[in-house]
Amino acid sequence: MSNSKMPGIKILAISGSLRAASYNGALVAAAKELAPDGIEVEIYSDVGSLPHFSEDLEGDNTPVEVIELRRRLGEADAVFISTPEYNGGTSGALKNLIDWASRPYGQSSFAGKPVAVTGTSVSPYGAQRAQEQLLPVLRAVGAVTVGEAHPVGPAPEVFAGDGTITDTGVVDLVKGLLSDLSDSVAVGAVGDGQVRAA
Ligand code: FNR
Repeated sequence: MSNSKMPGIKILAISGSLRAASYNGALVAAAKELAPDGIEVEIYSDVGSLPHFSEDLEGDNTPVEVIELRRRLGEADAVFISTPEYNGGTSGALKNLIDWASRPYGQSSFAGKPVAVTGTSVSPYGAQRAQEQLLPVLRAVGAVTVGEAHPVGPAPEVFAGDGTITDTGVVDLVKGLLSDLSDSVAVGAVGDGQVRAA
């Protein structure tokens, strides 16, 4: 991880949990708090407002929430995602967001976008399986994933009751992911940014 930064990089941070007291929400909030000068982290908190994806809601029928999601992703230089783990996978809400963002076909909002994935769960494995499921999905929609899974857990031992991170290793992890995203934007995303989803 280098310290080089481009000025004014904008990172959209997304938690895949809809729970009010979510640990993943706390991780995303920490990313905003810990962002250094030159990196602006905006939180996208409308994951739960997106309707379930349907091809019947495309084109002229595209919901305003989806148009807004695509606008927010389009304005972001990079994306920071924190996923919960439900039954060994990512959340339905987060997969739904990615499906919406992948459309229209050939115009994925994730195409060429650097994306860092982390996640936390109550288990010591820290949503590892959810992240391992999420990473290839993101690559399929053209995202340039930065690193692999970055598990954080067990969440009750990492976060205080108010959501602040009490584990300095996790603080360093979040800072490192922001730095890696910044570096990836600075050099130009390294992947081909091609959408592989049919
Ligand atoms: C869970 N949880 C969970 N944890 C885990 O480590 N692996 C898993 O497979 C699951 N599966 C699972 C299924 C369902 C339906 C629920 C409700 C929960 C526990 C999960 O880690 C815990 O609820 C987290 O607190 C969820 O993340 P947020 O909401 O705190 O961000």
